[in-house]
Amino acid sequence: MRIGLFYGSTNCHTEMVAEKIRDVIGAELVELNNLKDVPVALMADYDLLILGIPTWDFGQLQEDWEDQWDALDSVELDGKVIALFGMGDQLGYGDWFLDAMGILKEKLAQHQVSFIGAWPNQGYDFEASKALNEDGSQFVGLALDDDNQWKETDPRLQAWCVQILEEYAAQIG
Ligand SMILES: Cc1cc2nc3c(=O)[nH]c(=O)nc-3n(C[C@H](O)[C@H](O)[C@H](O)COP(=O)(O)O)c2cc1C
Repeated sequence: MRIGLFYGSTNCHTEMVAEKIRDVIGAELVELNNLKDVPVALMADYDLLILGIPTWDFGQLQEDWEDQWDALDSVELDGKVIALFGMGDQLGYGDWFLDAMGILKEKLAQHQVSFIGAWPNQGYDFEASKALNEDGSQFVGLALDDDNQWKETDPRLQAWCVQILEEYAAQIG
């Protein structure tokens, strides 16, 4: 099994989380790919994709994701299993909390992919988010807020790593 962790990160918060996820799951399984340096086409090389995206500028994509946004359409993703994590600021940007993660999920859902790693929305305080599922009960991936809840980041990501590995094992039988 090869796990590709792709992320974009302007102020390094997402990058630090990406490194922690790699350390929790194991560097022998997880390869880090900073979208600043690699093409999204590389996603085709992996079985399981973990994708990290912070939200910027009132509900917008982080710049490295934005730069490769159109190229995502032509990546061979059919059959991939995808786990998303998003980073945002629920108090400073509570009307757009983690929006980019929801926008990314919608984009990827145009491919024949399956998603794992949905995360409960309890324990957060925000007005609106495009990263919630249809009934609003869960985020479409791990929700992290290093601006206001940095102490929660490590326990959340550790629990989520166990969760996605279990869900992936169940998916592939
Ligand atoms: C100018 C600015 C705009 C932001 N806009 C949003 C936003 O719309 N929604 C959100 O959830 N977080 C927003 N954030 C918070 C960032 O997503 C958060 O700080 C994140 O950890 C940054 O990750 P990075 O350092 O990996 O780029 C914003 C932060 C800044 C400084």
